[in-house]
Amino acid sequence: MANTASLKIDDKSYELPIITGVEDEVALDISKLRGMSGAITLDPGYKNTGSCSSAITFLDGEKGILRYRGYAIEELAEKADFLEVAFLLIFGELPTKEQYQKFHADIKKQSIVDEDVKKILDAFPKSAHPMGVLSSLTSALTSFNPSSVNVNSEEDMYRAIVKILGKFPVLVAWTLRKKQGLPLDYGDDDLGYVQNILKMMFKSPSGEYKQNKILIEALDKLLILHADHEQNCSTSTVRIVGSSHAGLFASISAGISALWGPLHGGANQAVLEMLEAIKADGGDTKKYMAKAKDKDDPFRLMGFGHRVYKNFDPRAKIIKKAADEVLGDLGVEDPILDIAKGLEKEALEDQYFVDRKLYPNVDFYSGIIYRAMDIPTEMFTVMFALGRLPGWIAQWREMRLNKEPIGRPRQLYVGSPSRSFVPMENR
Ligand code: SDX
Repeated sequence: MANTASLKIDDKSYELPIITGVEDEVALDISKLRGMSGAITLDPGYKNTGSCSSAITFLDGEKGILRYRGYAIEELAEKADFLEVAFLLIFGELPTKEQYQKFHADIKKQSIVDEDVKKILDAFPKSAHPMGVLSSLTSALTSFNPSSVNVNSEEDMYRAIVKILGKFPVLVAWTLRKKQGLPLDYGDDDLGYVQNILKMMFKSPSGEYKQNKILIEALDKLLILHADHEQNCSTSTVRIVGSSHAGLFASISAGISALWGPLHGGANQAVLEMLEAIKADGGDTKKYMAKAKDKDDPFRLMGFGHRVYKNFDPRAKIIKKAADEVLGDLGVEDPILDIAKGLEKEALEDQYFVDRKLYPNVDFYSGIIYRAMDIPTEMFTVMFALGRLPGWIAQWREMRLNKEPIGRPRQLYVGSPSRSFVPMENR
């Protein structure tokens, strides 16, 4: 591979350095392009534009490969637990037993949320979407933890990181229980990270919470599968907000808002609503396939397609298998799962989807498992955020440690040329 690319504009040639990644991806370094040529590049949605070099996650959309710090997602989902994967993503290596225990102990020390945060929660109507509540509460954490804003040393960053890993699950549980009219409480410091989350979310006020191994393993796996996905919409948001040196909590809050959208993490809720609509329509998948292909109809087959994967999303394969296992283990019969499988089969045989390489993505089956776990549909994207938290943290930390410049894209102006002001009486 040459180490420069030549660009010709009119009678001038410009040399652009070529950078090759670990997996032989090729990038043209255009950081000096405007200075050399006066030209910028234009790439709506950044489909062809890399925003950074990153050592955290690698994915190959053509081959359906996903690795966190070099480890295959299939291995991590089978052999690791969520807190172990969080440590791996954030610090770059799988933790030793001592590192794991210290990380968890440091997180537990930071898992109390100021009681005044409940007053903010009380101000929301019960009808409020939990993603909006969670984004607000996460941003509010800054007010109760001001030292987490100006983090320049790795020690300062570590303190902010264990704070959000300790407090975020509490905010998730409180957001759910507030909607359900249940008391807002804590879990138990003696429990594992995921066990503690389940207890905070589901403990009945009048009884002991019995841990269910199936739920623990299912949630562990789902959170691992959602933990990072390189420069997706919400992660890019976290990086660009963090690049202004806004604090970690403010950056995560912005990421939550980006994830909320139905084209992104909000798709897992939209998939269930779509499947429910198909079920209510007597299982008429053909009608929804036709809607998805009709250019005049804004409807899309939710849970299908992906900006990067033009093959099966490896996470979707794992989640589809887990859905069968979890529902079977829980003894849950859910016709929605059969509708989902029927829809997938139809789409994979349909020329429109084949031509556009539209396959099921991470959101297509995840909601079916959340539903079997008695998690309300409106909370599905919150569960996505809970899983994605370590990835957002890892990406924010990498951006800060690399001392990356503030994100500030250019534009191509296509508005009015220069013109003089006209007084209102003359308009
Ligand atoms: C996530 O980026 C990430 O990594 C995200 C994520 C992560 O882990 O962070 O993986 C999580 O967000 C998964 C995606 C969840 N979203 C959905 O399931 C919503 C439905 N999917 C689409 O809206 C769409 O596929 C996107 C948004 C996911 C990707 O859109 P792109 O890459 O911008 O592709 P596009 O809109 O240019 O579509 C290309 C063609 C178009 O048709 P033509 O104009 O070429 O005729 O495919 C069509 C689109 O209309 N198309 C679909 C479709 N997705 C794309 N048609 C029907 N149904 C769909 N779902």
